[in-house]
Amino acid sequence: MLAAQADGAEIITIEGMAQKGSLHPIQEGFREMHGLQCGFCTPGMVMTAADLLATNSSPSEAEIRHGLEGNFCRCTGYHNIVKSIQYAADKMQSS
Ligand code: FES
Repeated sequence: MLAAQADGAEIITIEGMAQKGSLHPIQEGFREMHGLQCGFCTPGMVMTAADLLATNSSPSEAEIRHGLEGNFCRCTGYHNIVKSIQYAADKMQSS
């Protein structure tokens, strides 16, 4: 997307996910479930997860993996990323 195409839109980046000094549940999930190694892909994974969980609060593993298509991680093999998002979904539903 060109920047001009986002003119007037609300844009949230990973820096805007934490609230009042507390990690967002998705960020917490990546920390707790070891969802990153080098961290290069992490902002995109977290923001993609946020979009996924906004439309599907309890995604299956297959739905998470499908939702992450287009985001590439060279380090983790995706297993712990999926677990991180499942952790966040569970936490967001219980709060
Ligand atoms: Fe290194 Fe994903 S953690 S590319």
